[in-house]
Amino acid sequence: MSTVVLDNVSKVYPGGYLAVDRLSLKAGEGELLVLLGPSGCGKSTLLRMIAGLEDITSGELWLNGEYANHLAPRDRDVAMVFQNGALYPHRTVRGNISFPLEIAKADPGYVKERVVELSRALHIDEMLDRRPGTLSGGQRQRVAMGRAIVRQPSLFLMDEPLSNLDAGMRTELRMEISSLVRALGVTTVYVTHDQVEALALADRIAILNRGVLQDVGTPGQIYNDPATAFVASFLSSQQLNLLEAVVRTPQNQYILLDFGLHQIIMPWTDPRAYAVSRHVGNSIIVGIRPDGLAPLPPGVDQGPCLAGRVRTLEYHGHEWLAYLEAGLPAVPVPEPPDRRRHGDGAANGGSRAKALVRRLLSGTHEEPDPPPVNASGSHRRADLIVRLGSRPVWRAGEHARVSVDLAKMLLFTPDGARIDPPRR
Ligand SMILES: Nc1ncnc2c1ncn2[C@@H]1O[C@H](COP(=O)(O)OP(=O)(O)OP(=O)(O)O)[C@@H](O)[C@H]1O
Ligand SMILES: [Mg+2]
Repeated sequence: MSTVVLDNVSKVYPGGYLAVDRLSLKAGEGELLVLLGPSGCGKSTLLRMIAGLEDITSGELWLNGEYANHLAPRDRDVAMVFQNGALYPHRTVRGNISFPLEIAKADPGYVKERVVELSRALHIDEMLDRRPGTLSGGQRQRVAMGRAIVRQPSLFLMDEPLSNLDAGMRTELRMEISSLVRALGVTTVYVTHDQVEALALADRIAILNRGVLQDVGTPGQIYNDPATAFVASFLSSQQLNLLEAVVRTPQNQYILLDFGLHQIIMPWTDPRAYAVSRHVGNSIIVGIRPDGLAPLPPGVDQGPCLAGRVRTLEYHGHEWLAYLEAGLPAVPVPEPPDRRRHGDGAANGGSRAKALVRRLLSGTHEEPDPPPVNASGSHRRADLIVRLGSRPVWRAGEHARVSVDLAKMLLFTPDGARIDPPRR
């Protein structure tokens, strides 16, 4: 077992591309930490730096309490599985799994026992004598995992090991990975861009965007209390409603979130009320997942609600979604400033890259951050997406009202940071 500590780690690729930006993160002993984020956000780069396959430009990596920036990959006691776990085509499944132990000159009796034990856990014990060419993609990934884990590494790194498999196989293998690494107690860093996979697998999730760590926490923490609007949006299986509201406090009786055509009252008893009131007179971003809205029967008029015309209904098998034209001001997901190209530039790439590396190493920041995205800058009117459950309780064209679950409402500043309740 091992711990991984990344302290202020950055990666600048030759040419000046800043792929990972001053990232600090820890994986505890035996923990399954998932790195989640969109394509190109730096997940594989980070994993490869932990494995020693990529140099760390600045910052420190500590493995099991030992400074590891300059350790050779073979001295890190890590095993890695990639998307296309390449196997030795001329060796059988048994030969592939046992290979790392043979290299380490392990006792043949032990090797035999270990291969059988692992292949049972991975459900490939009946194909030990077959060659990789005769296996399905899912079976090959199981073999790759067996080969990686057979030496009992203290750290297991997996880079999208399931992304080439079909949905059914992915779900099945996901559960097996989860029980296997937990049974073995191996610290695991697992990369994926699939939020469902991350939520299902992780002890904790770290979300990256544009090389910057956005949030880290248990699946429940980051789903229910996301640090940024980007995290909230990335983790929503259905599209998150992101709306602009002006904060008002009429006669100081309550907080009014003013969407123009609609208003929502937030009582002072809401834990976030005082933090929201600091934005009085200004815009904030309100995030509401489709399941934070519930259809209101006609005549019922209680609590916070929104209304509009049902534009269309969508059937998703296990549920219906409705799109309401409610005239609400929608805002795009605020993104962190993109610093990644700062060192780039074809004409003077070399010197700018060196300057970026120098600044990272000296700990000084480059140019100040651009001003935050101003929510008031956008006046798009988007539909309000509502989850209806298993029955389409409305018809297209009718006027409908929805109640808003204040506890599920997410509140962000215009640049997308969570509006926190005051710390007690
Ligand atoms: N060797 C390299 N030289 C220059 N830039 C690179 C190199 N490798 C990766 N990059 C860039 O760094 C960024 C991060 O790449 P990385 O592979 O870490 O992303 P990722 O999050 O794993 O994406 P994906 O989900 O698509 O695998 C990308 O924009 C990529 O183009
Ligand atoms: Mg990748």
